[in-house]
Amino acid sequence: MAPTRLVVLISGSGSNLQAIIDACERGKINGHIAAVISNKADAYGLRRAKQAGIATKVLSHKDFDSREAYDAQLMNVIDSFMPNLVVLAGFMRILTPSLVQKYVGKMLNIHPSLLPKYQGLNTHQRAIDAKDNVHGVSVHFVTEELDGGPVILQAQIPVLKDDTAETLAKRVHEQEHVIYPLVVKWFSEHRLTMEADYAVLDKKQLPAHGAHYPQ
Ligand code: GRF
Repeated sequence: MAPTRLVVLISGSGSNLQAIIDACERGKINGHIAAVISNKADAYGLRRAKQAGIATKVLSHKDFDSREAYDAQLMNVIDSFMPNLVVLAGFMRILTPSLVQKYVGKMLNIHPSLLPKYQGLNTHQRAIDAKDNVHGVSVHFVTEELDGGPVILQAQIPVLKDDTAETLAKRVHEQEHVIYPLVVKWFSEHRLTMEADYAVLDKKQLPAHGAHYPQ
């Protein structure tokens, strides 16, 4: 099976990118990261990519007049690397419908909440404020609804009495670095697809909240 070509989009630290780089290097993912694209020139994840010998590209949204113009160029850059899968790993941009439609079923995102809870920002604090006992992270296919596409896999963690947004974020991150490479691995093995509004793994429709890690 030919390795899946990945393009990873980031805006910041890139710790999820690192987890995917490591999984590719160890042969856990049958994949090759063709490029890492950032909308921020100072994103630490760009350094991680360079250290791993991966092509990088900075496309600053500040150089464009509109979201549409930015996304049109972003699509050109993505396509120049001919990916089979586009991986959003902390890419802090709202995407236009035309970009989302172009990669539907071929674009993943990771969101630090148990979707459909807490779409958008500040998810850890929101879980604490709501006095949730359980919090977590979701990997999902990207659709036009922000953080709203079919969920593929979730990992849960308990919310502890003394947790702050920071301590919770740290433990969620540990789970992110496990479940995101796992989902990319499934995709690279052609085991994962998106149907109308749900994900399919090994020919079985996944429930609305996706599969649970550990399974
Ligand atoms: C993660 O918390 C992820 O869930 C969210 O953005 C953050 C990216 O972190 N989408 P990193 O850049 O991968 O360290």
